[in-house]
Formats: sequence, structure tokens, C-alpha cells
Amino acid sequence: MKYKTFVTTLAISMLMTTTAQAQQAPQLRADNIDDVLKAMTLEEKAKLLVGGANNFFGAGAVVGGEADLVAGAAGTTPRIERLGIPATVLTDGPAGVRIDPTRKNDTQTYYATAFPIGTCLASTWNTELVGRIGEAIGNETKEYRCDVILGPGMNLHRNPLCGRNFEYYSEDPLLTGKIAAAYINGVQSQGAGVSAKHFAVNSQETDRTSVDERVSQRAARELYLRGFEIAVRESNPWTIMASYNKVNGEFSMGNHDLLTKILRDDWGYKGIVMTDWIGIRSGLPTIREVQAGNDLMEPGQPAQVNEIIDGVKSGKLDIKDVDRNVRRLLEYIVKTPSFNKYPYTNKPDLKAHAAITRQSACEGIVLLKNNGVLPFNTEGSHTPVGGDLQSPTIKTVALFGENSYDFLSGGTGSGCVHPPYVVDMLEGLKNAGIKSSETLTDIYRKYIAYARAKFQAERHPAKWFQTEMMGQQKYPEIGLSPIAVGKEVADADAAIITIGRQAGEGIDRDIATEFNLLDEECALIIDVCNAFHQADKPVVVIINSGSVIETASWSSYPDAILCAWQPGMEGGNSIADLLTGKVNPSGKLTMTWPVAATDHASTKNFPGSIDDYTFKQMVGSNRPIPGHTYTNHEEDIYVGYRFFDTFGRPVAYPFGYGLSYTTFGYSKPAVKLSGDVVTVSITVKNTGNVAGKEVAQVYVTAPDGQIEKPAKELKAFAKTRELQPGESETLTMTIPVRLLASFDEAGSQWISEAGTYTVHIGSNIADIRATAPFKLSKAYTEKTSDALRPQQKLNLLKRK
Ligand code: BGC
Repeated sequence: MKYKTFVTTLAISMLMTTTAQAQQAPQLRADNIDDVLKAMTLEEKAKLLVGGANNFFGAGAVVGGEADLVAGAAGTTPRIERLGIPATVLTDGPAGVRIDPTRKNDTQTYYATAFPIGTCLASTWNTELVGRIGEAIGNETKEYRCDVILGPGMNLHRNPLCGRNFEYYSEDPLLTGKIAAAYINGVQSQGAGVSAKHFAVNSQETDRTSVDERVSQRAARELYLRGFEIAVRESNPWTIMASYNKVNGEFSMGNHDLLTKILRDDWGYKGIVMTDWIGIRSGLPTIREVQAGNDLMEPGQPAQVNEIIDGVKSGKLDIKDVDRNVRRLLEYIVKTPSFNKYPYTNKPDLKAHAAITRQSACEGIVLLKNNGVLPFNTEGSHTPVGGDLQSPTIKTVALFGENSYDFLSGGTGSGCVHPPYVVDMLEGLKNAGIKSSETLTDIYRKYIAYARAKFQAERHPAKWFQTEMMGQQKYPEIGLSPIAVGKEVADADAAIITIGRQAGEGIDRDIATEFNLLDEECALIIDVCNAFHQADKPVVVIINSGSVIETASWSSYPDAILCAWQPGMEGGNSIADLLTGKVNPSGKLTMTWPVAATDHASTKNFPGSIDDYTFKQMVGSNRPIPGHTYTNHEEDIYVGYRFFDTFGRPVAYPFGYGLSYTTFGYSKPAVKLSGDVVTVSITVKNTGNVAGKEVAQVYVTAPDGQIEKPAKELKAFAKTRELQPGESETLTMTIPVRLLASFDEAGSQWISEAGTYTVHIGSNIADIRATAPFKLSKAYTEKTSDALRPQQKLNLLKRK
């Protein structure tokens, strides 16, 4: 054969082989996952298990694969062209879609709605409303060409000092699970996915990537895992994110007990597990993660692909484990908008979503104090609801506090969102027809511009989490003198002071400067109250914080206190709706507000255990950070109200607390056990003068049995529709008997002991309006796996 003919024949035959291979290679469909799995090479399987790009640090800072698909998204799953497997895009979360708002060489903008933070959403106690927020977030996720939103954040508020509490829901697992399930069902109804995070026991930021959370099996099951269990059973999240920390000696990401025995065997979870964003972990081989049931390493590194391939070749990793995880990933991929070629627009309906943000924030904001000055009478026609001050006509206010003019819509870190705007207090009040002092506006605006410039100039380059891409910053208060404050009294009908706190990923809060008020903040409250009260003019404090702060030392000064949390980009409008009575507050606290941060039983071991305490100087930080290798959960099941209520300790505001402009009456309840379900019915009546909504909370006291129990635990709740004065609604709630159970470690089982239970129905845990007993004549038990045994003896807090 002549050389030329040989080359041509070879080329033709190579082309035919490749075409044949390509023709033979099955293209992924929902109904041919087995065929695709069979056709995959080991390299392709390994590649799929190791996630793609990470554009986490903003546009341009690409660390691999497919970052440019959606600038600013957190990661992707790898594309395998040969088999028709598309890349899918994972974006933070949870308070909205976190992508870069602008792109290089592109005039279009990609702003996303900043929805209320998790704590504010949970404080609505309104699962239907949270479901609608979920739908809006799901819609923005897919319209921005993403497949999964990395949320909801579901870790328990073990202690008020956790820097990420704002992303999370509550100190109570039932409330956490129900709110999360509503969010997840909402997102997933849009054909986009979620990643419920951080699984599990990740209730602190200090040393989060290395700390060993040592917790009893009981507290793990009843508290830290219960919310996830409810969410898995009631909403089937597409993905779950394994946390950075260790649980009882093993990293969550490689924790077979957690990811397989509990999540899949006990709860029947069918979706995928991905890692939190870390890549290769020192001390945790990737093959152990695969074996544990971790399906996706994010953001992946090429060395991990090789490790999986070598593991299989050397026999250290069973190909069956790889195939099982790959199958789960393929099952996930076929559900995604990317796979289904969703015609995304990059233009979600931000206006419609702003409206639902405004409404949901109104329901999540909690009225902590009101001596009758609220709602403000803006028309001169309003009848005060009660209290010792007549509700005055308010046309002009003196607006104090840096955050009145630089309102914090959300927290910092991966949980921040880049919204098109944030409505601050000034604008919100203006929109409601209330004027603000021009002098103060001028002072504060100039100050904020100065503080911002100074902060950026002095920011250590290593403090990447303090750039604007990572969220709004909180600047110190000005320190206005009593003279300056006094000058405002004459022209204003009332004063409003906003006290702001910022917190976020990577760092927990400290007591002295973040939980407590600073001297200049206390001075501002006292000076403003003194000056305005002398002229019989009211003072309202707005708390603009994602987490609990100290209130007991100053709450007697102002006439009203509204905890606005970080309520999203419509914050100022939502607050104005409440101040003016356009909306009646109905938010309730989802965590206890202690008198002092040290009152929580968990503070002793937060953010680590005292016998394991060193100080580390963090890069770019001006204060040393405490470092810990482990955290002993010695408070055990006595987290939040389970501690305060059981041990009779005083609090600033109890769990479930929140005032309204109206009052509610509760009827006698009807409580009935039928089969494995307790049904509780109660009629709630609006006994006041204005329309409003009430949250009825059902707590249960278990009979004294073999297992020690908290005094009361939340077992159900329901929110009324808006009731007109005199109107009633009958709320019917159900409690599955399995949810009454305590975890019996010795028998690895749930037990609802036989005996008489007391149902307490109230407006908060300390304001019980009705009680009724029911009898469980036979104990209910449910076997589980024996998982997560602590490796050290824990000195657990006991009731008796
Ligand atoms: C956070 C996650 C987040 C991920 C991706 C991690 O540092 O802990 O909550 O989803 O980054 O941005």
C-alpha cells in the first residue's frame, strides 16, 4: 500500500471507530442510568465524584474547571461530553442566589433578591409563607442558570455567639425541620435543588474545619440531627452538604455512621451528599469519603480523581462504592435544569420577589416591647392599643444609629447576597410618609462614607471575608454628644435608634463587643431617651442584627423595641409597615434571649472546651482568636429553652415570644390520641381592636419515666390567618407519637414511654394559655442503628 493510501485508510478507519464509539456511548436519560454507568470508564467515574469549579472569591479568581458558567457561583459538577452528562451549577445560599452581580465585558447586571435571613424566616412560624420564599428562590436559581442553591442552613442555635446563627433557624429542632422542609419543598417545586447544610453538629465557626464536636448519641439524635431528619422525611432534598467539623472523632465528610447508617439506613435518604468547600482534607483520605457515602467532593482537586482511580486499582476502594455514588449523582443530574435544558433568562422577576420579601420580613420581625406608642399614628386618627403613653401623631422622626442609614440586609460570608438595592430606615420611613431629621441624615451619611473609606484603607489584604463581595460591614457608632441629641428634640415627634450587629462565616461573635452593647451604644440610647422623654416624645429601638444581643440592661429605657433581624433588601419598608400599623407584628422568637450570654448552659463549652484552650493570632485580625481541638457538649440535651425552662432560669425574652398590636384568647383545647397520632385543636380569637395573626405553640411534658426529659418540648405549632377583631379560627395540629420520643442510647431506639402526657398550648413557652392531658397506654419504640458513639466520656448536665 502506498504511504498516502495507508494514511488515508488509517484516518478513515480511526474516524469510523471514534464515530462508532460515540454512537455506541449511551447519552444520559432519566431511564438509562444503568447503561450510562456501565459505559463509564473508571476515569470518568472518578471525575464525576470530584466537583468542578470554584469561583467563590469573586469574578476572575477561578480555581479550576467550569467557573465561567455562572460567575460567582460556588461550584459545579463535571461535564462528561461523551455520555451527554452536562455540568450542573451549585450556588450559595441560603438567603438568595449568591452570584457576581456584574460580569467582565458585559453590561447586563445579575443582582439577586436578598431575602430575609434564615432566623427572620423562621420567626414567621409560617410554613406556607416560607414555602413561597422557597419558590421565589428556586425560580431565581434556575433563571440564573444554576441548579442547586446551597441552603437551607439548618444548624441548631446551640449558643447565641455562633457567627452563622443568622443563616440558621432556631434552637429547636422541630421548628428547624418544619421551616427547612417548607423552604426545600418551595425551591424544589420549581425544578431546582437545594443542599441542606451543614450536616451535622456545626453550630460554631471557631476552628470549624478541625474541631471535634463531642456529643452524646441522645443529644445528637434529639437535637442536632432531628431537624435534618424531619427535612429528609418531609421534603427529600436533592442534596445534603456534609459539614467541615468532626463528630465524635470522625470528620462528617468521611463519617460512615452519619452519612450512611443514620442518613440513608435510618432515614431512607436517596439524594446525594456533597462536602462543604474544602477539597483535600488533611487526615481524611478521599477514598474514605467515598466509602462513607459522600458522593461529591467540592470543590474538587485533580489529586482526588487520581486517589479514587488508584484506590480502585490497588483494591483499597471497592468499585461498588464508586458505582453506588456515581449512580446517585446521575440520578441527581437528570433532575436538574441544566440537564433538562431549562431556557434560563438571567432575568428573574425581582419586583415580584421584592414584594414577597417585604411581606415575609414583616411576619418575621419580632416586637419585643411596646408601652403603647406603636403603631405610630401618622394620620392623627389612630386609637392607641393600650399602655401608659398616648400614641402621638408622628410626622417627623430623629433617626439615630449608623445602621439607620446603612441598613444590614443580611450577614457576611457565603451567606451574603448581592441585591440591586437595600431599603434603609430613612427610605422606608420616607416611603411611609414620615420625614427624618436632615441634620442627622447629613451627619450620618458623611460619617458612613468616611468610615467605609477608612475601613477599606485599613483592611488587611488577608481579610478577604471583609470585602464587599462578602457582605456589608458594620461601622462603629459616631458617639453623638447629648448636646447634639438634645438639638433634635424640638423638630421631631419621635426618635428611632437602630442598633446594628454584623456577623458571618468564619468567626464566632464575642460577648464584650458583639453580644453586649458598646458604651457608645448604651450612651446613645440613654441620651436619646432622656432628651425625648423630657419632652414626652417616644423612642423606639430597632435591632438590626442576625443574632441575639443583650437587652436586659437597657430595655427599660425606650418605649418600644422591634427586633428586625437582617430582613432582606426591603428591610426599611417592612419596618415602616410595622411601625405605622399597616401590618400588625406576628413574628415570634425562635430562640431564647438570655439576660447574659453566659447564662446558656452551652457557653461553658462554646466555642470549645475550657480545658483545651489556646489563643491564635488570625491573619489580619487585631484580636487573638481562641483555638480548640474539641467541644464537649456537656449541656447535652439542655440547649436553649430546654435549659432555661427546665432549670427555672430567668431570661430576657423567652422562646416563642413576640408581641402584637392586638390580643388573642385561647379556647379550651381538644386533645385526642388516635392510632399513632395525637390531634390537638384549639380556637384562637382576636380579642383586641385591630386585625392580626397569632402563632399557637404546642409544648408537651412527658411522663416521668426511665429517661430524663426537659420540662417541655415544642411538638407542634400553627399560625392563624389574619383575624379581624372578634374573629376566631380553629387550629388543628397533629403530633405523630414517634415525635414524642426520647432517644434511648442503651437500646439504640426511640422510646415514647407509656403514661400521661400534658399538652401545653401557648403564645410562648412562658405564656401557656391552655393545658390538656392524654394517655399513651403502650410505649412506642422505634429501632435505629447504633451510630456516633462518643469516644470520650462526657460529663453531661443532669436535671436531677
Ligand atoms: C460554607 C458553605 C458554602 C460553601 C460554598 C463554605 O465555606 O461553609 O456554607 O455553601 O462555602 O460557598
